[in-house]
Amino acid sequence: MSTAVSAGTYLHHMQLLSGDPAGLAAFYADAMDMTARPQDGEGWIAEGPGRRVLFARGADKTLGYCAFACRDGEGLAAIRARAEVQGAAILPSPSPLFGAEAFAVRDPDGNTVAFGLGGAEPPRKGLRGPLQHLTLATQQPEAIEAFYTGTLGFLTSDYVRDAEGRVQTCWMRSNHEHHTMACFRHSRQGIDHHSYEAGDWSVIKDWCDRMGDRRIRIIWGPGRHGPGNNLFLFIEDPDGNWIEVSAELEVVYGRPAGEWPHEERSLNLWGHGILRT
Ligand SMILES: [Fe+2]
Repeated sequence: MSTAVSAGTYLHHMQLLSGDPAGLAAFYADAMDMTARPQDGEGWIAEGPGRRVLFARGADKTLGYCAFACRDGEGLAAIRARAEVQGAAILPSPSPLFGAEAFAVRDPDGNTVAFGLGGAEPPRKGLRGPLQHLTLATQQPEAIEAFYTGTLGFLTSDYVRDAEGRVQTCWMRSNHEHHTMACFRHSRQGIDHHSYEAGDWSVIKDWCDRMGDRRIRIIWGPGRHGPGNNLFLFIEDPDGNWIEVSAELEVVYGRPAGEWPHEERSLNLWGHGILRT
């Protein structure tokens, strides 16, 4: 087992770029049961129990960075040492939520991935749904998988392959959860979606009702993914970013990577699946 995975790291926060960061923060506060406040000049942050999303000015639907927290300084040092040995350039962390010990790397698509230590938790009040995973859209899933597993020490939990054997989707874990990072082969590059883990089906129902009360359309689901076996619903923010709320995500304590066919059923055991290619 790699040092990074044995140390364990989880998605702590992320920054989205937008032409209207204040408006986007207000949407997340309302839809995702968070509180928004200005941060760092024209930037904004929305916080809820176990979830934090930062917003800065830039092109819509663009990832500023994602940020993983380690359990302790030893775990953080282990990931950094592994990345260095594997030849990754170690960059300063862009996140105001991490301290001086944090660092960042860039993946083969140029996505910035920060690692640090989490600070004080946001208020506990609010619907359950800590930030849990990020899924990338990429034209080179093989290179993305090689970076997150080889350079950073994540482990692959499942693949979707097409009839030619090419990887279409790859789910990777950095702790006991089935995935904290995933990627879809896509014609574009950037974010496919990010996800919050509600834990339990009854909480998924509460999230659905919350969206219904606000006339926010559920664009996919409720359904159940094949890989990860998680229940899901998807909505879209005003910039067109897909937001997932998930529950019952598989816990993986070590097994060979699974193989799934490139068909709708792999992405939704219950019905309609959205293939990206
Ligand atoms: Fe997801």
